[in-house]
Amino acid sequence: MLWLKRAFKWASVSLLALLVFYGVARFYVVYTESRIEGDRAPYFQKQSAEAISIVWHTDKPEIGVLRYGSRPDDLTLEVSELEPGEAHELRLTGLEPSQRYYYAVGNTRAMFYGGSEDDWFMTAPETGADEEAVRLWVIGDSGSPGKVQQAVRDAMTTWVTNNPREDEPYLDQWLALGDNAYRSGSNRQYQAALFDAYPAILKNIALWPAYGNHDARRRAFFDIFSLPEQAESGGVISGTEHYYSFDYANIHYVMLDSQDSDRESDGDMLQWLQRDLEANRQKWLIVAFHHPPYSKGTHDSDDEGDSRGRLVDMRQYVLPVLEKYGVDLVLSGHSHGYERSYLIDCHYGDSSQFSEKNIVSRGAEDKNADFVKAKGAHSGTVYVVAGASAKVDNASMNHPAMAVSLKQAGSLIIDIESSTLVARYINADAQVVDEFIIEKRDDDSWKEYLNPDYAGCTQD
Ligand SMILES: [Fe+2]
Repeated sequence: MLWLKRAFKWASVSLLALLVFYGVARFYVVYTESRIEGDRAPYFQKQSAEAISIVWHTDKPEIGVLRYGSRPDDLTLEVSELEPGEAHELRLTGLEPSQRYYYAVGNTRAMFYGGSEDDWFMTAPETGADEEAVRLWVIGDSGSPGKVQQAVRDAMTTWVTNNPREDEPYLDQWLALGDNAYRSGSNRQYQAALFDAYPAILKNIALWPAYGNHDARRRAFFDIFSLPEQAESGGVISGTEHYYSFDYANIHYVMLDSQDSDRESDGDMLQWLQRDLEANRQKWLIVAFHHPPYSKGTHDSDDEGDSRGRLVDMRQYVLPVLEKYGVDLVLSGHSHGYERSYLIDCHYGDSSQFSEKNIVSRGAEDKNADFVKAKGAHSGTVYVVAGASAKVDNASMNHPAMAVSLKQAGSLIIDIESSTLVARYINADAQVVDEFIIEKRDDDSWKEYLNPDYAGCTQD
C-alpha cells in the first residue's frame, strides 16, 4: 500500500503546485494587461461648472504642463505637475460656467498636444440652470473596434452636423453604458476600442462611463477613468469610482455599478443612492447602469441565471428606489440591440406580470412617442437598452414593456431644454429610427395623457 500512499502524496503536491502556478500566472496576466502604458492624448473627466480634470499618459516619466485660455492663440494660463510621472492628471479649478477654453498639453520642454482651434473643452452650466440646451450622446457596448463602431460614431457626427444648435458645440456630454472595451477591458483593448476609436470626441467632450462585465475582467477601467467619488461634479459623495453621481444644468445623473457592487437594498450602493436622491433638487433625473432591468435581447431579464441574476437584482432592488424619486430615464446596455419602453411604473417582476396597469402613458402609437408626465414619485419612467454601438445580436426582442425593439446598431442623441427631453436613436446610416419626447408639467394637465388602466404604485 506504500506505493498508493506515495502516488496520492505526489498527486496532491502536483495539484497544489499547479494551482499555485495558475494563480501566479493569472495574477501576472491581470496585472500586466491592466497596466497603463505608452502615449495617450489628453481627455476630460469630472467636468463641473467651475472645474475639470485633464488626463493623459506618456511613455516616459516627465513633468506634465497644461496651458489654457479663452482663445487658441492666447493660452496665457499655465499649470504644471510637481513630480515627474507617466500618468498625468491636472485639475483646473476656478473656471467660469458654460465657458469654452482652449488648451495645449506637454512637458517642461515643449507642448505636444493641442494648441489648435479644435482643441477645446467646456465647463458645465451652473447647477440648476433651466434654460440651457443640453445635447447628450449615449453609446452602449461600444467596445468592439471595427466598421460597425465607426459607422455608428460617424452617424452621430453626420446627424449633429446636419442638426446644429445655434452657438452651441456639437455635443455637451457623453455617456458610455459599459463594456467599453472587449473582451477583457485591458489597457490595450481600451486603446483600440476607445482612444483609437473616438479621438476627435475625446479631445473635447468629458466622458462618463458605466462599469460593465467586460470592463471588470481587468483593472484598467479604474486607472483610465478619473471618476467623481468625492462628488466633485455634484451629488453626494459615493467614496468609490464604481458608482457616482453628477449634475449638469438642470439634470442629475446617477451612474450605478450593476456588476460588482452589492445590489441589495441594505448594501452600500443602494444606501448611498437613497441619500443621493434624497438630496437631489434637479428637474431631470437620468440613471445609467450596464445590466438592463427589462430586456429580451442578447440577455433575458426574466432569466434569474442570466448574468448571475444581475438583471433581476437591478429590477427588484434598484428600480423601486429610482421610481420613488421620480426617475425620468434609465439607460442600460449589455443586450446588443435597441429596446425602448412606454412611460411605465412599478413593474418589478418578470415580463409575464407586466400589464396595462404598469403603463402610465403609451404616448403616441407610432415611433414618435410624446410622453407627458408629472414630477415626483412614480410619475413614469422610460427605460432604454442601447447596447448596439458596435455590434447587434439576434434575439426575440419581445419584452412587453417595450414600445420599440430594433435589431439595429446605433447610439442615442438626447436634447434637453427646460421641461422637454427629446431622445433619438440614430442608426449606422444616420437615420432617426426611434424618437421619443418626455415633457414634464407642473400643473395637472399631464392627467389628460394618463393611461386609464394605470393602477398606480403601492410599493412604498
Ligand atoms: Fe455586458
